Amino acid sequence: MCGHLIVQGTTDTVTILLFILYIQRFFHPIMILATFFPQLSAGMAAFERILDILDSEPNVKSPPSPSEIEVLEGDIVFEDVNFCYRENEWVFKGFNLRIAKGEKLAIIGHTGAGKSSLVNLLARFYEFQGGSIKIDGIDIRDMSLDSYRRNLGMVQQEVFLFSGTIEENIRYGRRDASDEDLWKAIQAVYVDELVKYLRDGLQTQVGERGGNLSAGQKQLISFARALLTDPKILILDEATSSVDAYTEAIIQEALEVLLSERTSITIAHRLSTILNADRIIVLENGQIIEEGTHESLLARGGKYGQLYKQYYEHQSLDWKPGTT
Ligand SMILES: Nc1ncnc2c1ncn2[C@@H]1O[C@H](COP(=O)(O)OP(=O)(O)OP(=O)(O)O)[C@@H](O)[C@H]1O
Ligand SMILES: [Mg+2]
Repeated sequence: MCGHLIVQGTTDTVTILLFILYIQRFFHPIMILATFFPQLSAGMAAFERILDILDSEPNVKSPPSPSEIEVLEGDIVFEDVNFCYRENEWVFKGFNLRIAKGEKLAIIGHTGAGKSSLVNLLARFYEFQGGSIKIDGIDIRDMSLDSYRRNLGMVQQEVFLFSGTIEENIRYGRRDASDEDLWKAIQAVYVDELVKYLRDGLQTQVGERGGNLSAGQKQLISFARALLTDPKILILDEATSSVDAYTEAIIQEALEVLLSERTSITIAHRLSTILNADRIIVLENGQIIEEGTHESLLARGGKYGQLYKQYYEHQSLDWKPGTT
C-alpha cells in the first residue's frame, strides 16, 4: 500500500515500519476497552441486583413496640395457624401443635409435607396469615426479632461456612465467647476428635463454603457453633449426606449433647434421632396425621410404619436386605 511512496522516494522503509508500529500501539488500548465493555455492563447488571436485594423490605419485621426477651423457657404453642407462600395455596390451615419445654420433637414426612415450612415459621423467616405461635405465652410476633433470635439456634441441612479458619467459623455463633467456652463447645461435640487429624488443627482454613472439609466435619462444626450460642430452642434440619460409620457414631453422640436440656425440633433423617425423640410427628399436606413415640407408632402400623420402612429401617444394624 505504501510501496509507491518508497518508490517515489517520499519516505523510506523505516519510517513506514515505525508508522505501522505506532498505529498498532495506538489502537491496542482502544481494542481492550472495547472488549472490556460487555464485562462492565454484565457487572453493572449484577451490581443492580445486589442493590435491589439490599433495598428490599423484609416481610418479617419487629413490631413497633417489641417485647425484649431475655431467656425463654421454650414452651411452644402453634394455635390455628394458617400459612401460604402464594395466595390461597395453603400449606397450613388451622394447624395446632404444642411442644413442651425441654421436649425433643422429631418431624417426619414425605417431601412437600410442610416440615421446612413449619420450622421456617417458628424461626420467623416468613409471616403467617392467621392464628398464633406463642412461646412461654408470648406471641412471637410481639417479640423483637433480635432478642427472639438470640434464643433460637438453627442448624441447617446445608451447613453454612464462610472462608476462614475452623475456629473463626465456630466463634461466629457467639463472637464474645471466652476461649474456655469455645473449648467446652468444641470438646462437647467432638470437633477436637476430627480436627486432630488436620495438620493445622482448629486453624485449618475451611475454604470457600467449607470446600476443604468433609460432610461430617462440616456438621460437627455447625453443632459446635450452635452449642456456643446455647439457645433454649434448637431447630435442626438433619443433613442427608452420608458419612462413614465412625463419623456417624461421633455425630450421634454429639447430637445427644447438643439436644439435651433444650427444646428441640428436628427434621429427622437419622434412625437414631427418631429413636431418641420424646415424640415424633408425621406430617402430610400440612397436617399432623400421626404422633407418638417410635414404639407406639410402629405398633399402630399406619403411615409411620410405611415411612419407617422406606427411610429409616435400613439404617439399623440388625437390618438385612430383603427382610421386609
Ligand atoms: N419458598 C416457597 N415458595 C412457594 N412455595 C413453597 C416454598 N417453599 C415450599 N413451598 C411449598 O410448600 C409446601 C411445603 O413445602 P416444605 O418445603 O415445607 O416441605 P418439606 O416437608 O420441607 O419437604 P422436603 O422434605 O422436600 O424438604 C410444598 O407444597 C412446597 O411446594
Ligand atoms: Mg424441607
